[in-house]
Amino acid sequence: MARRSPTQTPSWAKLHNLAQPGAVPPMPALFAADASRAERYSLQVGELFLDYSKNRVDGRVFAALLALAEEMDLAGRRDAMFAGDNVNVSESRPALHVALRGGSGVDGGGPGSLGAGIQAQLARVREFSEAVRGGGYRGVTGRPVTDVVNIGIGGSDMGPRMVCSALREYGQPGIRCHFVANVDGAEINRLLEGLDPHGTLVIVSSKSFTTHETLLNAGTVLAWLARSLGVPREQALGQFVGITANTAAARQFGIAAGRIFDIWDWVGGRYSLWSAIGLPIAIYVGFEGFAALLAGAREMDRHFVEAPMAANMPVILALLGIWYRNFLGASSQAVVPYCERLGNLVGHLQQLDMESCGKSVSISGEPLDYPTGSVIWGQTGTNGQHSFFQLIHQGTDLIPVDFIAAINDPASDPRHHDALLAHMLAQGAALMHGRSGEQVPASRRHPGNRPSNTLLLSELSPHNLGALIALYEHKVFCQASLWNINPFDQWGVELGKVIAGHLLDGTGAQAPIDPSTHRLRQILRHGRPWALEG
Ligand code: F6P
Repeated sequence: MARRSPTQTPSWAKLHNLAQPGAVPPMPALFAADASRAERYSLQVGELFLDYSKNRVDGRVFAALLALAEEMDLAGRRDAMFAGDNVNVSESRPALHVALRGGSGVDGGGPGSLGAGIQAQLARVREFSEAVRGGGYRGVTGRPVTDVVNIGIGGSDMGPRMVCSALREYGQPGIRCHFVANVDGAEINRLLEGLDPHGTLVIVSSKSFTTHETLLNAGTVLAWLARSLGVPREQALGQFVGITANTAAARQFGIAAGRIFDIWDWVGGRYSLWSAIGLPIAIYVGFEGFAALLAGAREMDRHFVEAPMAANMPVILALLGIWYRNFLGASSQAVVPYCERLGNLVGHLQQLDMESCGKSVSISGEPLDYPTGSVIWGQTGTNGQHSFFQLIHQGTDLIPVDFIAAINDPASDPRHHDALLAHMLAQGAALMHGRSGEQVPASRRHPGNRPSNTLLLSELSPHNLGALIALYEHKVFCQASLWNINPFDQWGVELGKVIAGHLLDGTGAQAPIDPSTHRLRQILRHGRPWALEG
């Protein structure tokens, strides 16, 4: 049955009226009129604190947004996801990443159940990661692991890469984690040059085990390992581990069954770091750290399920996202962590949000007549202040910002940490207040009234990072539900893969090769553009 379009709800029209110029006073006026605004528009979940008071919303806007959530049955959709219903309709399967962290009702049960399967894989992750860290696992020449190379791309790369860099302070001394995603040979060559093959463990991470980039990189690393160790490939494969839902393909590649970790088709790539795809995390920060990451996410799951909509952190972030995207014309959203270790969070959220919400048909296939996913972008502060912040302050587009920071950072020192946080607060305040007045030359005027959220973690621990990632996962889910789209498929990326296969070796379905592509290909083959003319 076709679900209701959000544009047919009574709240949609109401929100349009509230979005008219002048309908909502500018933010400084909202603060002036309400002494408790900062307290009322803030929320704490565990060790995460959200200040959302610097947004262009008042009580009427919130009431209308909450009514939209009600009219779109957001609670029902959420409950369906947690219950394991086939919410990913185009692929006829559930999206049960919440079960991986014990956040769903369907993750319990006896032998043969989904919960038992999850627990069994977790136990294997624990056993193997502890063996690697403790020196129980040895390479084919008897040496302990010093370097872990994770080969994967997209969701099989970005989550573990981001978590390992964020939790650097928790990393096991003596074990380095490297992430290879792109097929750029210069990068892989540079990495291999610096590695000791005797102490290198290779993890091939691919849900499908058919991803071209991953298989090419895995083959290159296998050839290097065999050559450098002076052993046959079959033996070098003893230092390979596979993580996949396609065990047969991993076996065919040559990885021993005992070193293949299972994931399931109901784990989306961008939601997979909670599964065995998180093995590099468990090796790097230890299983206890990985378990704490899962526990933090579970805490956010519980909050998402139990908190009333009006005090529900992911719901609030999503409603604000809808307000800016569909009513105030914002087409992008900046994410700016004031913490270098969270630099890779931007890329992770970019994939999470843009692969999930980059859709232009409804969940039942009807074309949409309203905008959906935004461009998610950013980088760490204060660096971003010296590059793109100018556009956010004085450019013609409205770009809401999420600031993210740790309140305490034992890895830093007070002088630096205070400076970092002061810069973050200054940006939020400057965006809101702007600068105007007769005396201010036009080029120096800031319009102000530019929105931001500020998310504070008590500190950057595995637990709090887990909660933060889960917060954004649920925000994305809420937005998709309100837009009536399926956030769990990504058919748009398939065509490029088909054409690449065709260009590389003529395999795959017949692909459309236009004259421009054909000519570019000729130039690349000849090595120089002018060689074509002769
Ligand atoms: O780019 C599309 C995509 O399917 C992502 O969703 C996924 O995370 C990535 O490719 C890698 O896929 P796999 O884990 O199957 O190699």
